[in-house]
Amino acid sequence: MSLRAAPKITPGHGTPRAAAAGAMPRHVAIIMDGNGRWAKARHLPRIMGHRKGVEAVRRTIEAAPDLGIEVLTLYAFSSENWRRPADEVSDLMGLLRLYLQTEIAELHANGVRMRFIGDTTAFSTDVIAMLEKAAALTAGNTRLTLVLALNYGAHDELVRVTRAMAVEVAAGTLAPSAIDATEIEARLDTAGLPPPDLVIRTSGEQRLSNFLMWQAAYAELVFTDELWPDFDKASLARAVAAFGQRDRRYGGR
Ligand code: FPP
Repeated sequence: MSLRAAPKITPGHGTPRAAAAGAMPRHVAIIMDGNGRWAKARHLPRIMGHRKGVEAVRRTIEAAPDLGIEVLTLYAFSSENWRRPADEVSDLMGLLRLYLQTEIAELHANGVRMRFIGDTTAFSTDVIAMLEKAAALTAGNTRLTLVLALNYGAHDELVRVTRAMAVEVAAGTLAPSAIDATEIEARLDTAGLPPPDLVIRTSGEQRLSNFLMWQAAYAELVFTDELWPDFDKASLARAVAAFGQRDRRYGGR
């Protein structure tokens, strides 16, 4: 029996790009973890950790384009974060509101395009209006795409995609045999964005926590012990440098 070459896999938006040593990640996604521990270590309320976390968000957005990053995705509020005590959820919503009210103009002036992933229908109508306004205002910007994951969970995203496709199949507008990676990716919240090349998680935890499970199929993972409020340009540069040392093979040799 002759050995035949394995068929080539041709995934859609997760299509691997050739990676050379020293390559730069085009899309970096970050699980911002450790705000609570940062505050606890200083005997401060958790909200102070989240406030400091917003400063780290600012620093990271500012640093990203200089490091060649085109898309920066930040896990700001997961679909599981509603389980936190009501006062913390309320504090986080307050911070999000404040962020949208006070920072969009500057982000726009700095050429940042804003996108949001996650089931944003769960937010109050004023927040939804702010998200829509920010996305519309910044849609033409090209210096950096900032994707905020809000009420995002990969399981929830895939459930929504599956339901949408089931509706199309039932309506006769989508043939079951036409469902492939490309069709699924076209319905993900991240449709049109390149897949993350690098996923960073701070605070020493080493898991994905329901973040971009489909999209990160071939992402390199970098875990750092730093707590999110301490994250800065040097931290991002270190993670990018670690990425440059990785040998990306996408299942090949
Ligand atoms: C994890 O720290 C962080 C979060 C759940 C939320 C991240 C939010 C921010 C950085 C601020 C809001 C951002 C924007 C863009 C307005 P944790 O509380 O789980 O920390 P712990 O694991 O140490 O308790």
